[in-house]
Amino acid sequence: MVPMLDLKKQMEGLRDEMLREVAAVIESGQYVLGKKVLQFEQKAAEYIGARHAIGVASGTDALHLSLKALGIGPGDEVITTPFTFFSTVEAIMYLNATPVLADIETETFNIDPAKIEEKITPRTKALIPVHIFGCPARMDEILRIAGKYNLKVVEDCAQSFGAALGGKKTGSIGDAGCFSFYPSKNLGAYGDGGLVCVNDDSVAAEIRLLRNHGSSGGYMHSTVGFNSRLDEIQAAILLVKMGKIDSYNEKRRQKAALYNKKLLCGAGSSGIMCPPLGEGGSSSFTHVFHQYTIRHPRRDAVREKLRSEQVSSMIYYPVPMHLQPALKFMGHKEGDFPAAEAACREVVSLPIYPELEDQVIERICNAIKSV
Ligand SMILES: Cc1ncc(COP(=O)(O)O)c(C=O)c1O
Repeated sequence: MVPMLDLKKQMEGLRDEMLREVAAVIESGQYVLGKKVLQFEQKAAEYIGARHAIGVASGTDALHLSLKALGIGPGDEVITTPFTFFSTVEAIMYLNATPVLADIETETFNIDPAKIEEKITPRTKALIPVHIFGCPARMDEILRIAGKYNLKVVEDCAQSFGAALGGKKTGSIGDAGCFSFYPSKNLGAYGDGGLVCVNDDSVAAEIRLLRNHGSSGGYMHSTVGFNSRLDEIQAAILLVKMGKIDSYNEKRRQKAALYNKKLLCGAGSSGIMCPPLGEGGSSSFTHVFHQYTIRHPRRDAVREKLRSEQVSSMIYYPVPMHLQPALKFMGHKEGDFPAAEAACREVVSLPIYPELEDQVIERICNAIKSV
C-alpha cells in the first residue's frame, strides 16, 4: 500500500546522526529544559525570523499558552476558521473564551478575510488564521483588519513550518506563531512537541512561565501555569531534522507540481481542483504541502479506485467545526458556512512526502483520471 507519509524512509537518510544525537542526550543525564531545547529554540527563532521561540509540549499547548499570554480570557471572542483540526478551537475553549467562525476561500481552504469583518463585535479580541495544509493565509488583509479593530493575531502554523508569504516565514507575521511537531508534520518529532514564536519580550517571558508551572526556578511561582515543556530528546531530533527542512519542503513542492501537471488541473475539463503552488519571490507565497489536497466532485469514487490500486488517501476534514458534536452549543446548522461544508464534501488528500517516487505519483494520477 502506498502510505500517506513514510517516516521510516525518512529515517533511512538520518539514522546515524539521529541515533548519535539521541544517545548523547540519554548519556547527558539532562532530559527536560536543558541545552538541546535552548539550542533548538535559538535555531528555530533564527529560521522563522522571530525574536523568541519557546518550546512547549504540543501545538495545542502552543495555541493555548500564546492566547493566554496575549490576555485572552473568559467571554472574549476569537475568530477562526471552520475548516481546521479541532485543537484550534479547543485552545480558545480552554480559556473560556468564545470561538467565532468565518467561512473559507474555495481555492486555498484558508479563512476568507472578507468574511472576518462581519463577525467582529465589541468582544472580539483575537484572530486565529490557520495556514491549512501548509498554504499561508492572506496575512496582509488579516493584519489590516486586526489593526483596524485592535485585535491580536495568533497564527496556527501547525501545518506550515517553512511556508512563507512576502518573504516572511509563517509564524513571524502575527503576534504569535504556533507550531506542532506531531510526528507527521513537515518538521516532526518522534513524539509530541510544539513551539511558539513571538517578538514581544514580555509575551515571551509570560509563555516561558506558563509552560513551567508559572515558575522561572527556585520553587517560586509567580503565576499558575502548566506542565508544557519540550523535552531534550525531541529537541535533539528536531535539530537534526531542521537541518533538512528546506530540502524536505522543496521536494514536497516538486511532488505537488508534478501532481498538478499530471492531473491536468487548470485544463478546465478534468473537474479536479488542484491547490495553488505559490511562486516564490518576495510578493508571493511558498506553500509547503503538509497535505496535497484536491477537490473532486466524485471524491468517494476516487478513494475507492485508489484503494483498489493499493494507494492510501485521507479526508482532511470530513466535518467542519460548526457541525462538530462538541461545539453544538455554538448553535450552528448546516448551511451556515457553505464554503467549508463544500470543502468537507469534495476534498481528498493524496500521499505526499519528500521520498515519494515520481512514478508512483504518475500511477496515482492515472487512477484518478480514470475516474
Ligand atoms: C491546524 C492544526 N492546529 C493545531 C494542531 C495541534 O497540534 P498538536 O497535535 O501538536 O497538539 C494540529 C495538529 O495536530 C493542526 O493540524
